[in-house]
Amino acid sequence: MTKRLILAAAAILLLVGCGQKSEMDKFVDNLLSEMTIEEKIGQLNLHSASGFISALRVTEEDENVKMLRAGQLGGLYGTSNVEYLTEIQKIALESGHGIPLIFGLDVIHGHETVMPIPLAMSTSWNMDLIENATRIAAKEASAMGVNWVFSPMVDIARDARWGRIAEGGGEDPYLGGEIAKAYVYGYQGRTGIFSDHDVLACVKHYALYGAAEAGRDYNTVNYGRQEILNGFMNPYKAAAKAGAGSYMSSFNEFEGIPATMNSYLMDDLLRKSWGFDGFIVSDATAVMEEVAHGIGDLQEVSARSLKAGLDMDMNSDGFVGTLKKSLDEGKVSKADIDRACRRILEAKYKLGLFDDPFKYLKPERVAAEVFTKENRDFSRKVAQECQVLLKNDGVLPLKKNARIAVVGPLADDSSAMNGTWSMSSHAGESISILQGIKDAVTNPSNVSYAEGSWLFRDKDLEENIKYGMIKYFMPNYAVPALHTVPQERMIAEAVAKARAADVVVACVGEVPNMNGEGSSRADISMPDAELELLKALKATGKPIVMVLTTGRPLTLLWEDENMNAILNTWSEGSEAGHAIADVLFGDVNPSAKLTTSFPRMVGQLPLYYNHKNTGRPHPDYEPYRKFTSCYIDVVNAPLYPFGYGLSYTTFEYGEPRLSANEMAADGSVKVSVDVKNTGSMDGKEIVQLYIHDIYATSTRPVKELKGFQKVDIKAGETKTVEFTLTAEELSYYDHELNWVCEPGDFEIMVGPNSRDTKAVVLTVN
Ligand code: NOJ
Repeated sequence: MTKRLILAAAAILLLVGCGQKSEMDKFVDNLLSEMTIEEKIGQLNLHSASGFISALRVTEEDENVKMLRAGQLGGLYGTSNVEYLTEIQKIALESGHGIPLIFGLDVIHGHETVMPIPLAMSTSWNMDLIENATRIAAKEASAMGVNWVFSPMVDIARDARWGRIAEGGGEDPYLGGEIAKAYVYGYQGRTGIFSDHDVLACVKHYALYGAAEAGRDYNTVNYGRQEILNGFMNPYKAAAKAGAGSYMSSFNEFEGIPATMNSYLMDDLLRKSWGFDGFIVSDATAVMEEVAHGIGDLQEVSARSLKAGLDMDMNSDGFVGTLKKSLDEGKVSKADIDRACRRILEAKYKLGLFDDPFKYLKPERVAAEVFTKENRDFSRKVAQECQVLLKNDGVLPLKKNARIAVVGPLADDSSAMNGTWSMSSHAGESISILQGIKDAVTNPSNVSYAEGSWLFRDKDLEENIKYGMIKYFMPNYAVPALHTVPQERMIAEAVAKARAADVVVACVGEVPNMNGEGSSRADISMPDAELELLKALKATGKPIVMVLTTGRPLTLLWEDENMNAILNTWSEGSEAGHAIADVLFGDVNPSAKLTTSFPRMVGQLPLYYNHKNTGRPHPDYEPYRKFTSCYIDVVNAPLYPFGYGLSYTTFEYGEPRLSANEMAADGSVKVSVDVKNTGSMDGKEIVQLYIHDIYATSTRPVKELKGFQKVDIKAGETKTVEFTLTAEELSYYDHELNWVCEPGDFEIMVGPNSRDTKAVVLTVN
């Protein structure tokens, strides 16, 4: 295109953009001028659908219906029951100015078709795959009334004790940023216009929820501004730049101010610095929780939250219950309320709800678009790329005609395959590991099965984990009896099956309620009863493939030493068992790589590859030495580092090459490396680029990911992989919080993971 053509196209786009904006502005101005102050405050109120767990019915006694008729609700969340949502939308249209409700839901990794949990999806390092998986979730949810999803969760997590590490993209801010964009595009599309298959994304939890002290959920955050800007904020920023329409404030505090009333986070950074122009909703009851944080009563915290930039209150009734009083007392202004209300109305306008409040309520779409074979097939494809092979002494891939003993409490547990936050899944219809293996082998009668063990020796603990959630919502729920068969008998049965087999597939790890919200663990080792099973299996002398189900890194020192292979399959969703069998039997070559470091001992946490050096650094793998930064009882290195994952083939890396050894601060340089597939199977390799700023005015991490490529390399083939580095990748926030690229030498490293890199030096002038 010539320069003149480009300018003309830009002018047209600008005019179209301005035209659209002014139409929306006119519409919203007009509506705001007609609304009462009570109605405006009502728009700032979000409730969960009554009967979150029980059956939903629209009745005049229902609290939400009463509030809606009184103009006190702006949105509802927590259900995709199309009939219910249609009825309730009709009531919204009959009330006050007939403003349609926005309908939210926790669509976290798929909707009815369940995709692998987000942490699993991140290990694919495949952004197209994540975007397409997310598009399927958007398509399914939007067919069922949902126009707003509480996803993506982009919180960086360095501490595997935190149960919600399962919901995010791992420990790295660069990779996290790429993942955040893929989700936003997946949900909202890339055009900026919401079709009836696009839903509004809600980026969460803003901000720093994953930095909770000691990995304990909801806990205080204790990082300074420079560290959060360099180490944690990039994914939130990337999502804003990709056009995310809403954010959810987090439960934690930052700098002594709860995030839900933190104007530095919401106003200075998100809106002013990154240009976000959507609305911010609190997390559930987060406004009310500011009282417990010790800030003030509900009126005080509600007023402060609104003034700091919060627009919508989820489930606290703080805004709806106190803002009018605060207005009368001069604690908030009409402009504060108008500003928040405008943002909610704009989101509804952009979604097209004023044109057609039933745009997303088209029941005829459900059968054709939800939980279809096509969607399930795609879920299987995604799951094939989300399994990290942690160890393999050659026992994998398995032969389809082998005698296989499939044992362990997670072998035949269909619902565990869905993982945390899969409330819309079809219970019992996900493919278990046992089922997947039986479907894949030559003769299913060669496959034997035993449950093999309890989860924990402590029955109360096991009961609390398995039924804690349901008992929270339904205190009278009759919990089924646990531990009815003695552990010793279960192990004996598994051992007998193992002895009669050629190979054992031991399916162990975490059930979904062991991770996710409110499920922090102080001990992240294999549950004790499962470990007893593994030890008994080991004593048979049979080769053991451990298939790990988990939502977080675990400490696996014993397992690493004693299992013949470890395949980490997280929770892979609707087609888990099939996808796992695809990898176990070698129909698919595993290619996933970790996005979180796996510690050797829980005492190493928080553990992350992009840490700083100390003044007394200690080499990662060397034993204890007095007066250096290390432990007496364990090496500093993780058991499995960030970026690590094996394949059935092997890759050999050449030395990295630079197109020039020096770079001007406004220039660029190419980094290339030859990667050879030296094995006998075609494979995919995730080639990773890291940098290290050797001397800077502030201390810098020992390594920082700044690029990656996932490439197909055929057996025997060599591919040259090329990256471009500019000042952007070499910059950081200095101690005055300026984004700077400082001249000097940088180590440029390329490798298959964060540990095994080869370096070359680049000088920036
Ligand atoms: C609390 C969780 O922290 C958040 O992730 C979720 O979206 C809301 N509840 C709504 O269910």
